[in-house]
Parts: sequence; structure tokens; C-alpha cells
Amino acid sequence: MNKNQNTGFILIVDDNPTNLSVLCEALNSEGLRFRVAVDGESAIAQVERNQPELILLDVQMPGIDGFETCRRLKANPVTENIPIIFTTALADTDSKTKGFSLGAVDYIPKPFAQEEVIARVRVHLQLKQLTESLEQKVSDRTKALQQAQVKLVQQEKLSTLGELIAGIGHEINNPINFISSNIPPLQEYIAAISELILLYQQEYPNPPAKITTAIENLDLDFVLEDIIKILNSLELGSERIRNLSTSLRNFCRSDSDAKISADLHQGIDSTLMILQHRLKANSDRPRIEVIKNYGVLPQVRCYLGQMNQVFMNILANAIDALDEAIMQGKISNIVPQIQITTAIDSEQFAIVRIVDNGIGIPERLKKRLFEPLFTTKTVDKGTGLGLSIAYQIVVEKHKGVLEVNSHSGMGTEFIIKIPT
Ligand SMILES: Nc1ncnc2c1ncn2[C@@H]1O[C@H](COP(=O)(O)OP(=O)(O)O)[C@@H](O)[C@H]1O
Ligand SMILES: [Mg+2]
Repeated sequence: MNKNQNTGFILIVDDNPTNLSVLCEALNSEGLRFRVAVDGESAIAQVERNQPELILLDVQMPGIDGFETCRRLKANPVTENIPIIFTTALADTDSKTKGFSLGAVDYIPKPFAQEEVIARVRVHLQLKQLTESLEQKVSDRTKALQQAQVKLVQQEKLSTLGELIAGIGHEINNPINFISSNIPPLQEYIAAISELILLYQQEYPNPPAKITTAIENLDLDFVLEDIIKILNSLELGSERIRNLSTSLRNFCRSDSDAKISADLHQGIDSTLMILQHRLKANSDRPRIEVIKNYGVLPQVRCYLGQMNQVFMNILANAIDALDEAIMQGKISNIVPQIQITTAIDSEQFAIVRIVDNGIGIPERLKKRLFEPLFTTKTVDKGTGLGLSIAYQIVVEKHKGVLEVNSHSGMGTEFIIKIPT
């Protein structure tokens, strides 16, 4: 142990001036700092105020003896962890055993041999330091493990949620197909019935009063017109549900084992469809404009379900960044915008750029973005997992590249590159 590293001090407790001067000299010669107490009670009072690294404690003293002093120090949570070495002329086994059973770490017999005092003091100072650094390490590791556990739980939740959503997407599919496939024949039947009614009206222009009244009560002309509008909106609605169901199933495609050849544009579109509700105008801001500059992309061999997760995490962050910019009044006169550009580069990497004109990322935060659990958002808004998951999927799973370009207040660009 380096003498100069030790900023703490050793407390010597002894009532005998000769013993004190021998111990002081020994410690002094080694450059170790120390303080002195001449009885048990003042030692306890001192230790409570200022904790030493180590205590050299005499057994036989007037007032409370060394054993009782030790017992009291070990009973107090503030002082219980300070190592105590007994110094005593009592060489009998009983006294030694009693000292150890009270929690002492060692024993130095009197009269003192200076070398022995120094050697034992050094060993115990070092032990204490090692114990402390070990405790620190254990606590650091425990913290890291807890973080990893949080992450696992989150991922587990996400994957369960993914399965659930894929399941719902699938379940909706059948009933919505009944509805949408029955709409065209229904439209035909209704058109035919409307024609039939017209024909009746032409052939029997003067029906009995009962029928005339019924036609008036019904407001037949209005009903015939409205029925067509209703059918059209049913058609539109069911078409939307069908797209959503397809998007949900595409988005949550479980791709556990093998890569498949996939259309990244379809993945991006499914993701945008699912994010529709967040892109819409709300009370705080206008609709977020999504500009697609899709190039020609070949089929890309990838885990599409996971790539969709990447698009989702990055697009959701872009929307958050735009919401935040509007909240801070930074882009009140600019249209909130997300641009998605795709291309293939000279090395046959598929490139997807996602650019927003939101708050941007300050330089000092950039290197931390991909750390698990790093977030600048409040607990209800962010988990800090989005980008670390995206990084894992793009870089580790697909051997691709994930880059970010951003300036605070100038918007952000994420670039995803995947080998085709
Ligand atoms: N498009 C973006 N614009 C501004 N900041 C961003 C953007 N994307 C990510 N960030 C920053 O990176 C952090 C980490 O993102 P992420 O890992 O998805 O976690 P979360 O979104 O839950 O905070 C965010 O808290 C935010 O500070
Ligand atoms: Mg996020």
C-alpha cells in the first residue's frame, strides 16, 4: 500500500504513556497518521465523530475496559465496520478468544515489537481497503445487473405485445373480409331495388293514397340517395381496417430463425400506417407532413419484423422531437416534417434516411444516444431503449450501420444502412 494514498488515520487507545509512545513512534516511522485516546469512553466519543481506518485497542484500562469498548463500537452501526486490533499483555487463550468473539480482527501482544506492529497494521489497512473496493464493485455490478434486467423485462413486454398485436391483426382479418366482400353485392342489390322502385313509379304513376303517404313519410328520394353514400363510407371504412390489419401483421411479422427477402418500403409504409394517429394534427400542432423520396430498392435479405421495429423507434423519436420543438415554440412558423429517403449505394447497401426538423440533438448527448436506458424524456414518455434496440438490430444482427447527424435546434437525420 502506498503511504501517501492513505488519507485516513489510525486511533490508538491506551492509558499507558510508555505503550503510547512506542506505538506512536512505530506509526510515525511509517508516515501513518494517527490520533490518541486514553480511555474507552473518550475513544467511543471520538470514533463516533470521526471514523478512523483502524483502531489499536488496549484491553486493560481504567473505566470501561477494551472488551467493553469493542462491544459498544460493534453495536453501533456508525462504527461497527471499523477494524479493531487488540493490544494486550494478556497472553492467555481465553482473552484472545474473547477478543475475536467480540469482533476484533487481530491481536498484538505486549511488549511491542515495532516490526510486528507495523506489519499487522499494514495488513489490516490493506484488507479494509480491499473490502471497501470489493463492496463498491459488488454494488456497481448489482446496479448494472438491475439495468440489464429492466431491459430484458422491457424487451419481453415488447415481444409479448408484438405477438398480441399480430394476433389481433390476424383475428380482425376474417370478419373484416366478410364485411368488405359483401359490400359490392349489397351495392348491386340496392341499385337493382332502387331501379325497381323507379320502374314501379314510372309504370304506376298514381299509386293508392296509402303508398303515396308511405313514400312521403319515408322521404324515399332522400333515402335512395343517402343509402349510396352510406355504402360508400362502409366500403372506405372497411378498406381502412383491412389495410391496418395487413400493416399490423406485416409490422409484427415474427422472424425468429431465418432472414427473408423483403421490401423495406412495405415495412416503412406499415410502420407509418401504425403511427398515423401520432402524425395527425392535434390541439398543439398541425399534421406532421411525411415526405417519401423512395428510390429503387432491391429485395433486402433481413429480419423484416425487426427492421420494422427500427423504423418504428426512429420515427417515434422524430415525432417526439417535433412535438417537443412545437412545445418549446421553436418551429411555430415551419411545417413539422419527416422526410424518408431510400437508395442503394455503390457497395450494395440499402440506405434509409429519416430526417426531421425537430429539436435536434446537442453535441454533448450524441455519444450517449445508443446507450441502453439513456433518455432525455420524462418517465411517461421515454424508456431510453428505442435507439439501443435499433442499434443492436442494425449493427449486430444485420451487420449494417446506424448513424446520426444532428445539430441542436436544426433537426436530426438518422441513416440506416443494411447490406442487401
Ligand atoms: N430525432 C431525434 N431528435 C432529437 N433527439 C432525439 C431523436 N432521436 C433520439 N433522440 C434523443 O435520444 C434519446 C434516446 O432515444 P431512445 O433510445 O429512443 O429513448 P427514448 O425515446 O425512450 O428517450 C432521446 O431521449 C432523445 O434525447
Ligand atoms: Mg425512443
